[in-house]
Amino acid sequence: MSKIFGISGSLRKSSFNTALLRAARELHPDKIDIGDIKAIPLYNGDVEAAGTPEAVSGLKMQIMEFDGLLLVSPEYNNSMPGVLKNAIDWLSRPSQETRNVFRDKPVALIGATPGGFGTMLAQNAWLPVLRGLGARYWSGGRLMVSGAGRAFDEHGVLIDESIRERLDQFIRGFDEFCEL
Ligand code: FNR
Repeated sequence: MSKIFGISGSLRKSSFNTALLRAARELHPDKIDIGDIKAIPLYNGDVEAAGTPEAVSGLKMQIMEFDGLLLVSPEYNNSMPGVLKNAIDWLSRPSQETRNVFRDKPVALIGATPGGFGTMLAQNAWLPVLRGLGARYWSGGRLMVSGAGRAFDEHGVLIDESIRERLDQFIRGFDEFCEL
């Protein structure tokens, strides 16, 4: 059985994307663990030259332990949010202890937005980044949650049964891909 590491690209407490990731973990608690990017500083080559921040190396180590990476990305201004891109930029840097943690790593993308297009443009914007990182992007399924304000209740619980079903199918498909 593969193990999947999920990262939400939102720092917001009531984030729909984090809620979507939690819903995925509730469906597959033995398979999915959740990491976060809160402690990742803004990328600065001078800081890096002085030593990789612990928050970065810790997250890299976690990613290496898992078979697959699930990025749950909001969409900002028709693209990916800076906070998540910043985290991926840090994580992409090779260091003495860690190689490129993305090379050949199975990666899947999902996302949620209160808007009508389900983070489609953000997901598309990630593709050249993942290609550059040498990741194995899973294109076998798509999950774009639009109208997120109706899909989750006020506690961030996914209440839309059809999205839950699609999320379950998505994770099952990605899991199979991770095992290849
Ligand atoms: C947004 N939002 C947004 N939504 C969308 O579908 N397409 C977009 O291009 C944008 N652009 C955008 C820019 C900025 C700067 C912000 C702050 C927001 C709305 C966005 O989807 C919404 O705030 C989500 O709730 C963000 O995700 P979380 O925090 O709920 O996970």
